[in-house]
Amino acid sequence: MDPHAIETNRANWDARAAVHGQDRIYDSDGLVAGRIDLDELEEAALLRAVGDVAGLGICHLQCHIGFDSILLARRGARVTAIDFSPVALAKAADLAQRCGVALELVEANACDPPRRLEAGFDVVYATIGVLCWIERVDEWMAAAARLARPGGHLVLVEIHPLASMFDTFEPPVTDFPYNFDGPHHFDSDGSYTDPGLRLSATETVQYAHGLGEIVTAAVEAGWEIEHLAEHTFSPGDYWGNLTSPDEDGRYRVRLGDQPIPLLFTLLARRE
Ligand SMILES: C[S@@+](CC[C@H](N)C(=O)[O-])C[C@H]1O[C@@H](n2cnc3c(N)ncnc32)[C@H](O)[C@@H]1O
Repeated sequence: MDPHAIETNRANWDARAAVHGQDRIYDSDGLVAGRIDLDELEEAALLRAVGDVAGLGICHLQCHIGFDSILLARRGARVTAIDFSPVALAKAADLAQRCGVALELVEANACDPPRRLEAGFDVVYATIGVLCWIERVDEWMAAAARLARPGGHLVLVEIHPLASMFDTFEPPVTDFPYNFDGPHHFDSDGSYTDPGLRLSATETVQYAHGLGEIVTAAVEAGWEIEHLAEHTFSPGDYWGNLTSPDEDGRYRVRLGDQPIPLLFTLLARRE
């Protein structure tokens, strides 16, 4: 991976992590008070893959400020959470302490986790906004496969590559390809938590990965695909620019009158 791009993205994620945590996506007080939980797609993915996570070893890749890591640890999982942002990990450590749960927090590139963690986990878990930061999705899938024990599971709930193409949904304006075509440089303030946020580092480098590329990378890394679902709704506004949810509480983006896929779930097992 391009080390300059990694440093650019790390600076941006450090800046975001510094200001995330008191907002509509990351309600820290709600987390500490036990008022929030995994979203319905993350819940369904775990249920389908492994059922109850109590007692399982879970590696949470790109954990950000640790919300899902804490939620999984609360359910009795032994959680190791990896992120390359020291600011995010410091916030995760503070939140875990406030929540009274133990996490192992590891600062590392998701594509190059420490050797000592290899083959250590029943589940490798990553959700919502992880792959666009990764230049080589084949390396990410291979690293995830090395972290899983034989027979271990991959649980990936991710932004659908079609939805990633849009700069704005209303009006529909695209600024990103469907398939990989190299780095895309952006310079913008704001975050998905609040488009009005001011960040101390605004540049990012992002990469498109089509669904075929993601699934092929998984298969070539030794993952046996068990389930792939494309969701034409989202439980939350993970973009920061969706209009209000439908009556069922789910968000949809329609082209004409048909909802497009916003998220996908990929479940796989290490051979
Ligand atoms: C959109 S957030 C993930 C959101 C997370 N699922 C949550 O619920 O909070 C993306 C995370 O990926 C991390 N990240 C980006 N590129 C990375 C890399 N190459 N290695 C490790 N972490 C990375 C960022 O620091 C950030 O915390």
